Amino acid sequence: MNDFFSLKFKNDYFIFIDQTRLPLEEIYIETDNYERIAEAIERLEIRGAPAIGIAAAYGITVALKNILSQHETQFNIAYERLKRTRPTAVNLFWALDEMKKVFQLQNNFDDIYDKLKASAIQIHNEDIISCDKIGENGIELLENDSVILTHCNTGQLATGGSGTAFSILKKGFEAGKVKFVYADETRPLLQGSRLTAFELSKSNIPFEILPDSAAAFLMKQRKIDAVIVGADRIAKNGDTANKIGTYNLAILCNYYNIPFYIAAPTSTIDSSINSGDEIKIEMRGSEEISHIRGIKVTKEEYATYTPAFDVTTNELITAIITDKQVYKPPFNL
Ligand code: MRU
Repeated sequence: MNDFFSLKFKNDYFIFIDQTRLPLEEIYIETDNYERIAEAIERLEIRGAPAIGIAAAYGITVALKNILSQHETQFNIAYERLKRTRPTAVNLFWALDEMKKVFQLQNNFDDIYDKLKASAIQIHNEDIISCDKIGENGIELLENDSVILTHCNTGQLATGGSGTAFSILKKGFEAGKVKFVYADETRPLLQGSRLTAFELSKSNIPFEILPDSAAAFLMKQRKIDAVIVGADRIAKNGDTANKIGTYNLAILCNYYNIPFYIAAPTSTIDSSINSGDEIKIEMRGSEEISHIRGIKVTKEEYATYTPAFDVTTNELITAIITDKQVYKPPFNL
């Protein structure tokens, strides 16, 4: 592990690093207020599918802290509030439902806070184990000294552990499988140039940041051995929602015959949906296009198109690497 952490539960307080300020400032926020956690998820202070789920589980926990009556009302209010924060990453809904199962099993509420806390910690701990397994499973697919292109951020910041795609990069680097990483800057919120670069640098992995639009040029020069990205929701047929721009990369990989891998924990698979057509894609505010870090770069009256995610169709995916196994096409998850 590195000298920073993304999420922690300590002395009955939830502590998280504000990802919107990285990499220039490392600021930690400590709270026992579920509304503050909900706002943090909405503002992307906490982001990345597994991290959102874990934060929501801790959010439910603190919502029931020091509550002496009306437990069910309080649970439902916090559950609905946290559920409304972001629509695409299924880990959020999965974690909230795991917490609901624990709540519904209780006959009396004397120790409900302790039970919820234990469940949230378990969700967190299981993610740590999942991340390591994804890394171990993923490096099996790589040749020695591979050069990898990645998109968005999938490391310690985006998960409870060592990351999803990032875990493969880190373990791969340590095992001599990964030599160099190209990190897409990931417009518009720059999760690549701010967060992945921060994590690569902390892990001493050699890297360069590139504008998203430079990927085709790099591939044309045969400089990329594989693309590995994370996921926010994977349908039964393997269609995968991930950060906007992922689909472009998958199409380019297909054109240049480069392996395109998705890495995600099993909790990112939504087996209630058959295909990516059923995934709700979050639309973000137009200021994320019209401004860069608070500075206006175009006229606010210009119309914008702001999907936060896209869906990569299964036929473009070489393999889906999870904590349990590596799935190859045709996918039936
Ligand atoms: O909008 P974000 O930053 O939450 O989007 C995150 C991504 O798309 C990640 O690639 C995905 O959640 C996988 S994180 C391990």
